[in-house]
Amino acid sequence: MRSIYCGDVGAKEEGQEVTVAGWVHRRRDHGGVIFIDLRDREGLVQVVFNPEKKEIFTEAERIRSEYVLSVKGMVRIRPDGTKNPNMKTGEIEIIASELNTLNDSLTPPFHHDENASEEVRLKYRYLDLRRESMLHNLRLRHRVTQALREFLDKNGFVDIETPMLTRATPEGARDYIVPSRTHQGKFFALPQSPQIFKQLLMMSGFDRYYQIVRCFRDEDLRADRQPEFTQLDIEMSFVDQQSVMNKMQDLIRYVFDRVMNISLPEVFPVMSYSEAMRRFGSDKPDLRISMELVDLSDIMKEVEFKVFSGPAKDKDGRVAALAVPGGSSLSRKEIDDYTSFVARYGAKGLAYIKIEDISKKKDGMQSPILKFLPDEVIDELVNRADINDGDIIFFGADKESIVNDALGALRVRIGKDLNLLEEGWQPLWVTDFPMFEKDKNSNNWTSLHHPFTAPSIDDAEELENNPGKVLSKAYDMVLNGSEIGGGSIRIHNKKMQAKVFQLLNISDAEAQEKFGFLLQALEYGCPPHGGIAFGLDRIIMLLSGAESIRDVIAFPKTQTASCPLTDAPGEVSSEQLKETGIRLRPTVSE
Ligand code: AMO
Ligand code: AMP
Repeated sequence: MRSIYCGDVGAKEEGQEVTVAGWVHRRRDHGGVIFIDLRDREGLVQVVFNPEKKEIFTEAERIRSEYVLSVKGMVRIRPDGTKNPNMKTGEIEIIASELNTLNDSLTPPFHHDENASEEVRLKYRYLDLRRESMLHNLRLRHRVTQALREFLDKNGFVDIETPMLTRATPEGARDYIVPSRTHQGKFFALPQSPQIFKQLLMMSGFDRYYQIVRCFRDEDLRADRQPEFTQLDIEMSFVDQQSVMNKMQDLIRYVFDRVMNISLPEVFPVMSYSEAMRRFGSDKPDLRISMELVDLSDIMKEVEFKVFSGPAKDKDGRVAALAVPGGSSLSRKEIDDYTSFVARYGAKGLAYIKIEDISKKKDGMQSPILKFLPDEVIDELVNRADINDGDIIFFGADKESIVNDALGALRVRIGKDLNLLEEGWQPLWVTDFPMFEKDKNSNNWTSLHHPFTAPSIDDAEELENNPGKVLSKAYDMVLNGSEIGGGSIRIHNKKMQAKVFQLLNISDAEAQEKFGFLLQALEYGCPPHGGIAFGLDRIIMLLSGAESIRDVIAFPKTQTASCPLTDAPGEVSSEQLKETGIRLRPTVSE
């Protein structure tokens, strides 16, 4: 049916007879001659139908977009003036001698170049995937997974599958649950990650495990989050934090080099969580943007402006500034927009000072809050922040977490808006995370990573005495402001694991019920071990430049976790409900 892909025909085939097959991308009728751009996964080729070939010419007149054809013809170099340098096959064309219409097509709901709504694109995903950009993203994904597997195989990692029907795995999101027919009233949970299983595999002695695996999390969705997504999941035995980090940066370097011809630094920079929060207000700083947050709490304690002095005096508060180069040209409306933007993170306002002429000190500045700030404070501000004429300085004053979230997000937003992003790739390790943080609602300790993460101290009593101060052996890999992977050295001692469960308010009975098998396994000779999981979709999203994780997944879910193509989730029959012992309430209320 075919001798060559459409997109592969070139000058080397000149004078040869070829057979191509594919979809009609475009059909043009040029007064007597019909041109069809025929498309397959490798690209487009121009096919010419001359009226002399009456039979196939009549058929070509009938043909419309997305019909499926097989065409035989002679390849010739296009006449001068008709070559198309923007097209891979633009130097040649095929003069058709045989035409076989393999299938007709309805008029597609959207054309390739159109910006159809995402709902429509997802409903007709099979058509959407015909577009060059989608084809490119999915083929890039294939090349990345191939390269990952190459590296992992060479480095002794064994690919092992773990169950999808399992028990809850504590990664902090809601579970997707599946009712059991054979054990009525009981439910499986789909894995939020293979975390516990990969640890058990270390206890079994596999030493190095990996899996490219689907994970399920019922959480609020964003551009970089899907309810089912893919991890490259990895675990290693007899390793410390540094050796895991070394191996993993080698892996990422290998893939970038192999697939994209990009060389990342041999050693990625490492930054502690506290430094990242202080300088960038984020645990995944985008280092392509040079702006940093500047601490002002110590100089704002006594100022007349309560908005600043309040948080400055509060031990959980923070006052910080963000100087934006060239920002004094921002309009009132733009500043109002940024004020609404930071409000999403809980900020109550966004004070600012515009710098017109720094040599004139206060007289060269413009701001409604200048009158509340003494000269010495302004001098010190100028001293600390890297300020130049034409800049704007934004201020955040609130609880530390609000200031970090608000100014951290504003830094990235303005970096993008004002083109302050450096080109290139900026990988980073973030380490030394606190072991626990307080849950805002319940005031209970929760894990920053997950409950199997080892603390940086070995003494369980010491951990108990100071849970808020202890750091963990967790590490995140960040690339251009996106968290692409996270992992840790694990607890391999039952006493420490039990203590961590206890601090997390998981009772002995609950720990036994949920993780009894893990606690037991820890007592049968557990090696020291650790690992990481990378968000594969996020890595592809960055490499492809896609705006959304949905553009690198063949059949993704919408923002509300549904599938317009299959209409999932759907209803089930009353028979299925009965078999699983489930009765629906008439309306489900909160
Ligand atoms: P974590 O929860 O940090 O760690 O997940 C690892 C990586 O997976 C990606 N990721 C997601 N990608 C798309 N959609 C989501 N909803 C989503 N959630 C997470 C992120 C993240 O860095 N078991 C541990 C790993 C370990 O300790 O080894 C875990 O799952 O890129
Ligand atoms: P107000 O006195 O409330 O009118 O605020 C004066 C300026 O301070 C305005 O520009 C507000 O946007 C700003 N502002 C108010 N609350 C905060 C805050 N918590 N952090 C930073 N700026 C604030």
